[in-house]
Amino acid sequence: MTGKKRILSGMRSTNDRLHIGNLEGALRNWIELQDEYEMYCMVADWHVLTDHTEHMDIAHNSREIAKDFVAAGLDPSKCAVFRQSDVKEHAELHLLLSMVAGLGKLERVPTYKEKRDEARSEGQVSYGLLGYPVLQAADILLYKPYGVPVGKDQAAHLELSREIARSFNAKFGDVFPEFVDIIPEDESRSKVPGLDVDAEGRLRKMSKSYDNCIYLSETADETAQRIKGAFTTPTKIRKTDPGIPEGCSVCQLLRLYAPEWESLWEQDRRGERGCMQNKQALTEALNEALRPMRERRAGISDADIESVLEKGAARARETAAQTMDQVRRAMRLL
Ligand code: TRP
Repeated sequence: MTGKKRILSGMRSTNDRLHIGNLEGALRNWIELQDEYEMYCMVADWHVLTDHTEHMDIAHNSREIAKDFVAAGLDPSKCAVFRQSDVKEHAELHLLLSMVAGLGKLERVPTYKEKRDEARSEGQVSYGLLGYPVLQAADILLYKPYGVPVGKDQAAHLELSREIARSFNAKFGDVFPEFVDIIPEDESRSKVPGLDVDAEGRLRKMSKSYDNCIYLSETADETAQRIKGAFTTPTKIRKTDPGIPEGCSVCQLLRLYAPEWESLWEQDRRGERGCMQNKQALTEALNEALRPMRERRAGISDADIESVLEKGAARARETAAQTMDQVRRAMRLL
């Protein structure tokens, strides 16, 4: 169609806003790739249902996440931004791939094992949860992509998708080419620390479940408030006390957002800067970096994003339908 290589990626809409960990770990990579590749960016709403969804408005969340995609810089005229449940081929391929996905492999997936062990009763562990990677394989393979840009945490799922593709090909003939992982090289971006520490006093990943995030769509004042409460070197009480930037969440984030971070770290270590000054510098740098996204987001209505998603789904469906035709033929359904 375009002569460009094709890539696809997705994020689940488990809540209604993305944080800077999502931005740095994955979304920024997508934005950088959209010119070079024929790209498909999916809001994985069916995948949300594998978790606790009792009080969750998934439709609302999916729209909000898609708004964040576009506000952050994904251009719907360049890439297809769509919602998984709008392209029913994902469900059909999930069903057909479930016939070749090995049960043993699925049962050994670490995230599945964790959730199974956490579950208080057998009834809490669903067939859908076990099949999470099969649905993800369907998401990917439908587009026969050259590559899949994701955060490092997704590597195991991608490997399983490749194995499912190989099993399919071995049984039914070569339908799915191998794809590559496209994981950001900059390690420091793939694991953005949150604003707090764990019980042992160590920085941990930014995650909604820890409530230690900075959200793309919050206001500049909210960001300032969150940074005020952020974890810094506990033994640095006065400005003149030496800081340890490696263990300080504010310094870690300065590294990502303040071009002059190296000199700030040195001054922090030497007791020439205080934590309040660092917080101030981080607030300014972050709010400045997020300002264009926030402005763009304010201009996107529900109707606007629905129209983006509708057009995206139409494009996705075209490609997906071609693959499904090949799959049905290979499996002798046609
Ligand atoms: N499992 C991914 C996550 O939790 C989301 C996802 C669903 C995905 N389908 C995908 C990612 C296909 C890449 C390709 O973030």
